[in-house]
Amino acid sequence: DFIIVAIDGGAAAGKSSTSRALSSRFNLMHVDTGSFYRATTLKLLEAGVPAQAGEALVTGLAGLQLDTKTEGNQASIVINGWTPDAAIRSEQVNANVSHYAAIPEVRKFLFDYQRSQAEIAKERGFAGLVMEGRDIGSIIFPEADLRLYLYADPAKRAARRAAEGLTDSIEQRDKMDSSRKSAPLQVPEGATLVDSSELNLEQVVEHVSELVSA
Ligand code: C5P
Repeated sequence: DFIIVAIDGGAAAGKSSTSRALSSRFNLMHVDTGSFYRATTLKLLEAGVPAQAGEALVTGLAGLQLDTKTEGNQASIVINGWTPDAAIRSEQVNANVSHYAAIPEVRKFLFDYQRSQAEIAKERGFAGLVMEGRDIGSIIFPEADLRLYLYADPAKRAARRAAEGLTDSIEQRDKMDSSRKSAPLQVPEGATLVDSSELNLEQVVEHVSELVSA
């Protein structure tokens, strides 16, 4: 049976590493929805579209044609033929993405595309889908077989980002993501909380794998 695993959590909570490990262990297609918001943000910034609702935004979004590319277990968004690269992890995108992600039109624009990833995973022969983000278990796939909320204490998360050599205002992003009106970051009702503060990646993956197998 096709399974859907939804993983939500704050910035640098360990969602990506955990999802990647799960995807290869269970032959799931791994979808990082943060990269969708990042790629969309970069395209809108390049087009000079400000982070506010209005005609410029509607026009800007209408000009973005979305496709999906898979490489191994990793799915990637493709926008007008462009596959996102390291540019979506830049400080400029870090600083702007939460502003664009707070706009309901931007979220609506990505909603169907995110839902369609399940069909794509089936067509491409995966046993399921692991999708990570902020509202996956609450809004995108509330019917997921497993809904997890990954938590790590702020000091641990800051240390992880620093180890990656990146400047990222993770606390500021979390604050914005949690306080926005549209699909705020929150523990989805009925989701399983996983606290990774005192666990290494391997331990988190072991724990979560048991939940997937159960
Ligand atoms: O996961 P990542 O930190 O790359 O996400 C970047 C930003 O994209 C988040 O801070 C949030 O503003 C937005 N996002 C979102 N909903 C998702 C995934 C990401 O609003 N499902």
